[in-house]
Amino acid sequence: MTTPSKDYTFSELFGSQQTVFREEDVNQGEKVFTSSYTPHSIWHREEEMKALVSYFKSIITSPTTSSKKVILYGPVGTGKTVISHAFGNELTHYLARDRNHGDPRFRYFHINCRKTKTPHLILTTVLRYLVSGFPLRGFSVDELLRMFTLLLYEQNLVVLLVLDEIDYLIPEERTDFLYSLSRLEESPILREEYGVKERLESRFNLLTITRDKNFRYYLDSSTASSLGRSYITFAPYTRYQLFDILASRAELGLREECYTDEILDTIASLAEEKGDARFAVELLWKSAKLADQEGENKITIEMVRKAVVDVLPVERSLIDDLNSHQKLILLSIARLLSIREQSCVTTPQVKEEYETICEEANVRPRRQTQVWAYLRDLNRLGLIQQQVENRHSNGKSMGRISTIRIQDIPTKEIISSLNPLLAEQNLQPQA
Ligand SMILES: Nc1ncnc2c1ncn2[C@@H]1O[C@H](COP(=O)(O)OP(=O)(O)OP(=O)(O)O)[C@@H](O)[C@H]1O
Ligand SMILES: [Mg+2]
Repeated sequence: MTTPSKDYTFSELFGSQQTVFREEDVNQGEKVFTSSYTPHSIWHREEEMKALVSYFKSIITSPTTSSKKVILYGPVGTGKTVISHAFGNELTHYLARDRNHGDPRFRYFHINCRKTKTPHLILTTVLRYLVSGFPLRGFSVDELLRMFTLLLYEQNLVVLLVLDEIDYLIPEERTDFLYSLSRLEESPILREEYGVKERLESRFNLLTITRDKNFRYYLDSSTASSLGRSYITFAPYTRYQLFDILASRAELGLREECYTDEILDTIASLAEEKGDARFAVELLWKSAKLADQEGENKITIEMVRKAVVDVLPVERSLIDDLNSHQKLILLSIARLLSIREQSCVTTPQVKEEYETICEEANVRPRRQTQVWAYLRDLNRLGLIQQQVENRHSNGKSMGRISTIRIQDIPTKEIISSLNPLLAEQNLQPQA
C-alpha cells in the first residue's frame, strides 16, 4: 500500500493564502462590509439629512420649548438607518460642546423594534440607560411611561428617540404606544408630582422609521395626527448612486489592484432594480470572498455572477433573530414548497410538516394558536406571504383557504441555513 504523498505543509498553505481585502488597518478589510459598520461618508443623501436638520433644528435652538415628531419612509437598503445614526451621533457631539451649567443634557436612543419587540422592552431599555440597574421586570407600560416622563424633568434631559423598523412592533401594541408617546405632553404628571406647569412635550422628540408607505393609514386618526405630518421619503438609489457607495466601500475594504470600475458598475446595475445599497455592498463582499476562495488576486465578472445567488434579498439577521419554533415553521414551509414544486402551500399542510419536523428535531410542537401567531409574525417580517383565497371547484365555491408563499428568498437557501437547527435541537433538553 502506498501512502498518499503530501507536497505542502499546513503552514505553507496558510502562508500562501492571498487576499483581495486590505489588511493593513484593523478598521478596514472585511469589517467595512458587515452590517454593523457605519460608514464615515454617506453618499447622495444630502437632501434627506438637510430635511432632518431642519425638522429638528429646535433641539439646538430652543431645546426645551418645542418637540418634533418625524417619520422616515423608504424601501429596503435606502439608507434610513445609516442616516438616522449619523444624524443622532452628530447632534450628540454638537450639543455636548460648549455646554453650560444648567443646560439640558441631550440623549439620543436608537431602538431597533425588530430586536426590541415590545413597548415594555423599549421603555425598559431607555430607562436602563438613564438609571443604572433599573429592573427588567415589575412595571407596566403605563408605569414605565410615567417614570420616563418624570426623568425627563428630573434629569433635565432633552431626548431624541429613534424607533427603527417600527413595522415589527405588534400592530395592536404599536398604535397604543405611539399614541401615548405622542401625547406625553398632555400628561398631567408633572403638575401632580411637582406642581410644575412646564409643558413636557418639549423635552421629547420622536423619529419613527418604516418601510411601509401606508404606515400612517394603519394608525387611528388621532395617533396619525399627533405623530405630525413631517415625512421624509427615501427613494431607491439609482445605478450611479450605488456605484459611488460601492466605490467608497471598495476603497476602504479592498486592495486597489483587485477590482475595477467595471466590476463595481456590474454590481450597481444588478442592484439597480430595487435600488438597495445593502444588496450592492453585500454582493461586492461575497464576490471578493469568492476571489479569495478561488485563490485569485482579482474579482471577475464571473465571480459576481456566481455570488448573486448567495446574496439574500432580505437581511440574514432577519432569519437569525427568529426563535427556534419560528425557524422550524419557516423550514417546514420551505421544505414543502421545494418538495412539491408548488407556488404555494396551505396552513394545514404547514402545520402537518411542522409537526413532522418537530419529531425529527425531538421537540414538542407548539399549539395551533401559537403556530398561527408565528405564521403571522413571519408574514409581518416579509419572510413569507400569507393570503386568504376563495377556492372553487367545478364552478362551486369551496370556501376560503389561507395560502402561504415564499417570494423573496430561494427555498434552498432557507433549507440549507435552517437544516442544521434540527441536529442542534436534538441536543437540547425538551422545550
Ligand atoms: N448613502 C449611503 N452611503 C454609504 N453607504 C450607504 C448609504 N446608504 C446605505 N448605505 C449602506 O447600505 C446598507 C444598508 O443601509 P441601511 O441599513 O441604512 O438601509 P435601510 O434603509 O435602513 O434598510 P432597511 O429598511 O432594510 O432597514 C448599509 O451597509 C449602509 O452602510
Ligand atoms: Mg434599517
